[in-house]
Amino acid sequence: MTDQTQILIFDTTLRDGEQSPGCSMNIEEKLQVAAQLEAMGVDIIEAGFAIASQGDFDATSAVAKHCTRAIVASLARAGAKDIERAWDAVRHAKRPRIHTFIATSPLHMRVKLNKSSDEVLEAVERSVRLARKLCDDVEWSAEDATRSEPDFLARCIETAIREGATTINLPDTVGYATPETYGAMFRDMIARVPNADRAIFSTHCHNDLGLGVANTLAAVAAGARQVESTINGIGERAGNAAIEEIAMAMKVRADVLPFRTGIVATEITRASRLVSGITGFQVQPNKAIVGANAFAHESGIHQDGMIKDASTYEIMTPESVGLTHSNLVMGKHSGRAAFRQKLEEMGYELGDNAFQDAFDRFKALADAKKSVFDEDILALVDDEVLRG
Ligand code: KIV
Ligand code: ZN
Repeated sequence: MTDQTQILIFDTTLRDGEQSPGCSMNIEEKLQVAAQLEAMGVDIIEAGFAIASQGDFDATSAVAKHCTRAIVASLARAGAKDIERAWDAVRHAKRPRIHTFIATSPLHMRVKLNKSSDEVLEAVERSVRLARKLCDDVEWSAEDATRSEPDFLARCIETAIREGATTINLPDTVGYATPETYGAMFRDMIARVPNADRAIFSTHCHNDLGLGVANTLAAVAAGARQVESTINGIGERAGNAAIEEIAMAMKVRADVLPFRTGIVATEITRASRLVSGITGFQVQPNKAIVGANAFAHESGIHQDGMIKDASTYEIMTPESVGLTHSNLVMGKHSGRAAFRQKLEEMGYELGDNAFQDAFDRFKALADAKKSVFDEDILALVDDEVLRG
């Protein structure tokens, strides 16, 4: 990769996203999501964890066969069986990748793996060597990198690169990092690992403190050139960094984030709705970019501004993410301008007195009801017309 502003988007909706409780997807569903991810321009699709189950193997393998452009990866632990199974699942892809990982933090090595650091280092060497024998494109991840001891982490990275890993992923597995610490870790590792220039460094942020996207952007500023994320930010616990937020942050704030992704932003809404529909995971209304309220305005002051010039209260257009329009929501905070526009959209033009009367009755209704729908306004105005 020669263009230093280009950021590769690695989507793990089908693997880490699927690890959200209640989010599992069957083959047909994974194929639908993968097709949309390709349409949206992601560079790498992590299709599954092939050894996890026969179903996940079959789904990963189906995605590998169907994708025409994106690299397709399967996750594997450091053991030979895992790696061989991952390879069997992705080998038919046009562009296959094996993604192998092992934990490198003292806590995980002791409690979970029951291995010494020397044993983990040896596992890094063996696992990447084997993966590289099978596949030219190998990614290695240091699970719990952000709680790992820097000298040891650097030795693991150097070993993985020496054995042929071309992508080095440093996950914030438990969402513990802050932008400052996560960025500093990348800067430190890229500077101190002697063969760092032979690999692309990758971010992978969980959202336990709500910092997933901020941490991702800090790592990119520090030299990472691949970003791992999921649609709607689904994933273990509080989820992963959301792809739509990262892509739009780089688009909207190109002045301070001078990076490019291949994401076709107008496909974002379609991708969000597809994943939400398939998983049954509703997107929170105030979720950035794809929440129902992301382009909705209720306050009179905001609605008035929106009617005059949308850039008063919107930093990106709804069209830019695949929506058709913003939404002026009628409620108790709405003002005259928005009410008049609403009436016009519904085909009504009232005289001054009738308008004032309808507006007063609308306000009274909005005080009594959480949401005022078009049908409510219709009833109210029909009444006004009859009275008039
Ligand atoms: O969060 C994490 O550490 C992961 C790795 C397995 C890549 O998902
Ligand atoms: Zn993860």
